[in-house]
Amino acid sequence: MNEYTILKNCVEIIKSRTDLVPDIALTLGSGLGYFSENVKVLCEISYSEFPDFPKSTVSGHAGKFVFGYLGSVPVALMNGRVHYYEGYDSVEAVRPVRTLALLGAKKFVLTNAAGGVNLTFKPGTLMLIKDHISSFVPSPLRGRNIDELGVRFPDMSSVYDPDLSTCVTSAAEELGIPLREGVYLQFPGPQYETPAEIRMASALGADAVGMSTAIEATSLNHMGVKVCGISCITNLAAGIAKHKLTHEEVKETSERVSEQFSKLLLESVKRMQD
Ligand code: HPA
Repeated sequence: MNEYTILKNCVEIIKSRTDLVPDIALTLGSGLGYFSENVKVLCEISYSEFPDFPKSTVSGHAGKFVFGYLGSVPVALMNGRVHYYEGYDSVEAVRPVRTLALLGAKKFVLTNAAGGVNLTFKPGTLMLIKDHISSFVPSPLRGRNIDELGVRFPDMSSVYDPDLSTCVTSAAEELGIPLREGVYLQFPGPQYETPAEIRMASALGADAVGMSTAIEATSLNHMGVKVCGISCITNLAAGIAKHKLTHEEVKETSERVSEQFSKLLLESVKRMQD
């Protein structure tokens, strides 16, 4: 089966369960699972109900779509995502985000946990993603182009939409939530980086490193979807931190910041409504 047929089948599964067409979709990274408590939920569909979806296997990632209303905005949440390091290729890893875009989501907010490379960042810093480096992970557009979704050689000079980004910065200002900006670099994972890799990332211009998001943003930009991204800096990156990196630290920080992060998301989404 070709990828476009697979995606259309995934959309049909959603349509058989709910009529809701999301205006805005959000991918919730580690610790943000509770954000869905803000949503008037109409329907939840576990990723396991999609025969063609890779299964989310990471602890802290529930792996389901939530459809409903955030205030008056029809939204779809991805509670958990699929990662390249789980063993799926990039084309498979972006299937859930592409499904929501094909369903009709015109705007996408991608969130993640990331390691801080910028020396002025601290665990708990929130960073608006201005641009990304995805060169260390195979492209999600690799293979025969799906002409129905986008062009063979898409422009990537403005992956993160300035208008959506302004919604986030103005929301942060109003709420008095400190927000930094920076470049996100996606490594393949699942191992954390070596200090030498972090020095390389810094030399390349990265402010934060993680194991998701850039391929999702690439595939959505290919489809003409407006994207914005926010990282929660959960830890100082390897070599900058004086201690060993653990998934526990990542979960601990993301849970500590989740309330503030949720408030920022909520206010940002309100501003993204047409
Ligand atoms: N590196 C890569 N991914 C991450 C990190 C990190 O330090 N922290 C959270 N996700």
